Amino acid sequence: MVIAVIGAQWGDEGKGKIVDLLAERFDVVVRYQGGHNAGHSVQIGNQSFVLHLLPSGVVHQGKTCVLGNGMVIDPKAFFEEADRLMGQGITITPERVKVSSRAHLILPYHRALDHTSEERLGNERVGTTLRGIGPAYEDKAGRRGIRFADALVPEVLRSRIERNLEDANRIIEAYGGQRLEASPIIEETSAIVERLAPFICDTSHFLNQAAARGESILLEGAQATLLDVDHGTYPFVTSSSTVIGGALVGTGLAPKHLAGVLGIVRTYTTRVGEGPFPTEMLESEAELGQLIRERGREYGASTGRPRRCGWFDAFATRYAAEINGFTSVALTKLDVLDTLDEIKVCVGYNLDGKKCDSLPAVSQDLRRVEPVYETLPGWKSSTLGMTDLSELPRAAREYVNFLSNHIGVEIGLVSTGPERSQTIIVRESALAKWLRG
Ligand code: IMP
Repeated sequence: MVIAVIGAQWGDEGKGKIVDLLAERFDVVVRYQGGHNAGHSVQIGNQSFVLHLLPSGVVHQGKTCVLGNGMVIDPKAFFEEADRLMGQGITITPERVKVSSRAHLILPYHRALDHTSEERLGNERVGTTLRGIGPAYEDKAGRRGIRFADALVPEVLRSRIERNLEDANRIIEAYGGQRLEASPIIEETSAIVERLAPFICDTSHFLNQAAARGESILLEGAQATLLDVDHGTYPFVTSSSTVIGGALVGTGLAPKHLAGVLGIVRTYTTRVGEGPFPTEMLESEAELGQLIRERGREYGASTGRPRRCGWFDAFATRYAAEINGFTSVALTKLDVLDTLDEIKVCVGYNLDGKKCDSLPAVSQDLRRVEPVYETLPGWKSSTLGMTDLSELPRAAREYVNFLSNHIGVEIGLVSTGPERSQTIIVRESALAKWLRG
């Protein structure tokens, strides 16, 4: 059984907790795109783990973790994270952590190019995490990238770094940046790739074999649907394919193994970085946005940046549900809305007085759309830690049903707090069945 977990909005929907909950029931946990731009926090007892690059399943002993071919991996970031986790008592060995030989490396010039690119864009900048993600994917699509398989061959690593750095330096210097020297990058990368060598293998073969043996595999999305390079709010997106199609491409798993797709949806919306955000709480609602930011602790796990906050956008979430074919949805952070008098939900967009049939493709249009809101009463009482739908105040239950109807997908789980135990599993949902195994 292969299940994919994918964020439906602009990221930070609380995938870390849900993947952690599911991971117990799965044999293998896999990342399929992105790199250390992600930030998942997992709370286990009184220990807190922050993961950027490794799949969240790594904090569960006995699970195999895979970094798939669709990822771009900074080998230094890999060991920084692995060493930190080992310091917290987690075992990181080649037996349980596997890195695809076809994944691409992020090197220091990618980080420098990420800075240059953002500076060049000025007011139009994307607000990237500056981790070199975009430039590494540019090299991949430009057929000059360096994969781990290539990096293991010293002459190939040397010649590709020398050649790519020549081009990179031209751009970096043209925009006033500091020229980078090839030798230290080659030496440092060779040493670190040598340390990584035992972890590197053909992960597509490993995963297809595991699926054929009947092992259960959890595909852990990073970023989210509206940040997808094809289907997101382009150009204010990340450079990878975050949606279900990307999960298959980024792992090499045959589609026949896929049993379901779980969408992660938060009861409100946030966005980090630049880009259109139709339901953002601005001006008269800015104070409300600040309240949600504080109650929901909405600060980036990777960069510490405050997240922009807004109302639930059922129109955009329905679009995400359509593209990913969500089988079930996990609704997170219900308790954050506990104090509100009323709650708005965007159920459609108008553009130039006309109703939009689907999400506008042009970012300037997305900035201009007028959200159509419906207002629901708040429940004004604590839902923190509730574990059964019947415990929820009526207005909270109605809010959950309202969202489910507008997204067009069942709600399989409602999260009522950061702890693993603060969760409602909806009996008879597809998600409950996956959890039963
Ligand atoms: P990049 O992935 O660093 O190239 O950044 C591209 C866009 O994706 C920026 O708007 C980032 O803020 C956003 N982004 C990247 N990773 C995450 C994430 O894990 N959560 C939320 N937004 C992200």
